[in-house]
Amino acid sequence: MHRPTLLRASLSILSIAVATQCTNLDHPPEKAELGSFASVRPVLESKCVHCHGENRLANMPPFGSTGELAKLKAEAMWLVAGKPERSRLYQVVTLKDEQPGAMPPTGHAIDAEQVTILREWIASGAPLPEGRSIALKPRGELVRSN
Ligand code: HEC
Repeated sequence: MHRPTLLRASLSILSIAVATQCTNLDHPPEKAELGSFASVRPVLESKCVHCHGENRLANMPPFGSTGELAKLKAEAMWLVAGKPERSRLYQVVTLKDEQPGAMPPTGHAIDAEQVTILREWIASGAPLPEGRSIALKPRGELVRSN
């Protein structure tokens, strides 16, 4: 007689715990949740979102989260799935430092490996984590190339 009650009680505690987990939007994403975006995230967090996240300086729509990146993808020209050369977000990282519009702006380095990561991610369709928007937070200072 006592057992079912105990079982029901522990089940409801469990479901409260699960519900709390799902509604906590700030919990850090697991690697599995990020999928192939896992390698792109540190590039954007160390080179871009200082200016293109919450404190954005540019007129273009912000990309401070995976949800905002999805909007850029929907607008095509910023992020053209499968076509890095047609994606503004990729074009700007391939411009020479002294060219107007080069990103990160003059002097802020982005290395060849990071450019390749962005390129391959867009070429593979720019997949983003599904289910919830994951915030991209600036990592460290922007490193200068000169
Ligand atoms: C130091 C601040 C800063 C950083 C870091 C930065 N940007 Fe920008 N970005 C700007 C500003 C300011 C503009 C708008 C003025 C301009 O176009 O030069 C801009 C504009 C852009 C544009 C639109 C430009 C166009 O010509 O259409 C894109 C795309 C862009 N940034 C992508 C990036 C990417 C990708 C990174 C990271 C690799 C990055 N930015 C890093 C400040 C920054």
